[in-house]
Amino acid sequence: TDASARLDPHYEIADIDRRLFGGFVEHLGRHIYDGIFEPGHPSADSDGFRTDVIELVKELGVSTIRYPGGNFVSGYKWEDGIGPKAGRPRRLDLAWHSTETNEVGLHEFQAWLDRVGSELMLAVNLGTRGTPEALDLLEYANSDAQTAWTDQRTANGRETPFGVKMWCLGNEMDGPWQIGHLDADDYGKLASRTAKAMRMLDPGVELVACGSSGRGMPTFGSWERTVLEHTFDDVDFISCHSYYQEHDGDAQEFLASGVDMARFIESVVAIADTVAATKKNDKRIMISFDEWNVWYLHREDGTESGHEFKGGAWPVAPRLLEDKYNALDAVVFGDLLITLLQHADRVRSASLAQLVNVIAPIMTEPGGPAWRQTTFFPFAITSRLGQGRALRVPVSSASFTSEKLGDVPTLNAVATIDDEGVSLFVVNRSTTDAADLRVDLTPLVRELGRGVEVIESHLLHDDDLYAANTLENTERVGVREAAASVDGDVLTVALPAVSWAAIRLA
Ligand code: AHR
Repeated sequence: TDASARLDPHYEIADIDRRLFGGFVEHLGRHIYDGIFEPGHPSADSDGFRTDVIELVKELGVSTIRYPGGNFVSGYKWEDGIGPKAGRPRRLDLAWHSTETNEVGLHEFQAWLDRVGSELMLAVNLGTRGTPEALDLLEYANSDAQTAWTDQRTANGRETPFGVKMWCLGNEMDGPWQIGHLDADDYGKLASRTAKAMRMLDPGVELVACGSSGRGMPTFGSWERTVLEHTFDDVDFISCHSYYQEHDGDAQEFLASGVDMARFIESVVAIADTVAATKKNDKRIMISFDEWNVWYLHREDGTESGHEFKGGAWPVAPRLLEDKYNALDAVVFGDLLITLLQHADRVRSASLAQLVNVIAPIMTEPGGPAWRQTTFFPFAITSRLGQGRALRVPVSSASFTSEKLGDVPTLNAVATIDDEGVSLFVVNRSTTDAADLRVDLTPLVRELGRGVEVIESHLLHDDDLYAANTLENTERVGVREAAASVDGDVLTVALPAVSWAAIRLA
């Protein structure tokens, strides 16, 4: 089918906060242990970090990394992870029914981040703990005064503060599964008290209040309103979390996920701005979309991912949430990135959940290789090419009917512009029809005063939607050059059914 779009540098959404390309590392399954940290591995450095994983994380291009959870943080004592390793306690991790050895804690994680070149974003435990422990951690991490906590930090090998900017006030406190789950009123009051105290210690921090764990939560909407009524003056961000999966083999419905994410963001913005209006306040609360991904959470046999262990077994680093991503997942994933960029004015931070082994773009085998899952490619390419300012790209295309979301356009696109060029990201959500997209570049060419050409193009598509990269075949799915060319002021891109593409023009 034919489709058309217009690329106009004046259709500006916002400058892109690099934190939109963040990641998330939780103490969960084989994420830390046997993932980023495997002292016996042939590629391990002197601190036990796998250098093959470090190289892949660098290639992925993740800006900030949220740590240490997730559900894990709601039972975590951060002090267990500092000081001489021999003295660190083994603890039960109730969230994932595992044993935490505490071999990796704040210092080790920061050392790893220094190697991958990403910035730390910390979550505090508001599940089993509260304001005092959040203040202890903040003082330990960020204070440059001489105190008992900072003396300990120095004794543990770090005189200069970690200088952590972004802090999450707990994790998914709306979820009944969360240790210490609260209702919106109680959480709002606790988050406000904690935020005020944290700012007294370090006025430079940026704070994230917990929003809903999903748009489908029964309290969605009223949770955001109540929490923001309490915390409006105290926080900078409210979080969104959302995971998508194919249900019952319905690829077409799954391909509408970007629309669901857009509605989620737009609803939270509307609520935040309603609270602002009632407070007669011009402040704009931003969104930290600090958990997003494809996750096969609900399995066909009725079980839920992550609930494998019950009763007596408390394994160390079990295989949990090790989803294998296929080509279809990667196309949906690319569309989620497009959607985040389309909302770059309000989504000022986002964290792909997660990074290694656990619902991750990077997989590892103990003693064996590390490899890229299908979702690695759209993230790495969008993070590298999606710089500068985000531009709205109106597209006229066919549409399909989603059972949950109504009319959904088959094509979705966004562009970015920087000093060196322009990038176009586009997805074809149709399961049946290829599309020939014609993009009118006249406004761009006029603005630049010269013509442009395609200097890079990438297509993610596989005739087998369910093809994946696995230990047996780590390079089954990749990206190839897209059929894209510029003729005069028109860019044409051929998009097979179920495909994602990125085109760089300069
Ligand atoms: O990312 C996996 C889990 O999903 C996180 O621990 C939790 O915050 C969410 O429910």
